[in-house]
Amino acid sequence: MLAKKIAAEAAVEFVQSGMTVGLGTGSTAYYAIHKIAERVKEGLHIRTVASSRQSEELALQLGIPVVPLSGIQEIDVSIDGADEVDANYNLIKGGGGALLREKILAAHSKQFVVIADESKQVDRLGKFPLPVEIVPFAFNLTLLKLKALGCEPVVRIADGNTFISDNGNYIVDCAFGTIEDPAALEQQINAIPGVVENGLFTGMASAVIIGYEDGTTRRT
Ligand code: 5RP
Repeated sequence: MLAKKIAAEAAVEFVQSGMTVGLGTGSTAYYAIHKIAERVKEGLHIRTVASSRQSEELALQLGIPVVPLSGIQEIDVSIDGADEVDANYNLIKGGGGALLREKILAAHSKQFVVIADESKQVDRLGKFPLPVEIVPFAFNLTLLKLKALGCEPVVRIADGNTFISDNGNYIVDCAFGTIEDPAALEQQINAIPGVVENGLFTGMASAVIIGYEDGTTRRT
């Protein structure tokens, strides 16, 4: 898909030799990882950390150096996709189930560059059900607390089985409808015992690059 590819490739211009780079997860991040691999082949010297096993495997297959997160202090730039982006750079992420590691990377990045095709832009977050990572223990009780915040929580199923995140947890997709105050909801959800993290990323993005099917990009 052209819009995703050109947004991803524009973001890779933020990457310079000597940097530690965070690799996102998903079909847009896929194009960024491919572009980074091209530049590594041309002599770019970087090390990367990955937000999922899937992205780590792809990076290694393409010859990109990947180091464990435990071995680094700070990330220079992370490049990652989003499921929704509002006008204030608030995001819903986690459609691919990698939201916890993605948020850890973003929180430790000097620059967090979000890449998305035009369909991801929204006025208000909430049409896309908010992914929440929860521990399996007593998950039904955690669902009750999530429901009390005003959503319909559904445990994610993949290929007929409960989806298990890279961290061994469940992902619950929570349909809230329009989210009036994303920052407040992000905190309220994380205050529930059993919740590990949620896919609201508020005040984290330093740049957003939107790709359009006509071949243009817009940086906001
Ligand atoms: C994975 C994510 C992805 O960045 C998000 O789902 C967007 O995916 P895509 O680029 O495939 O549309 O948060 O957990």
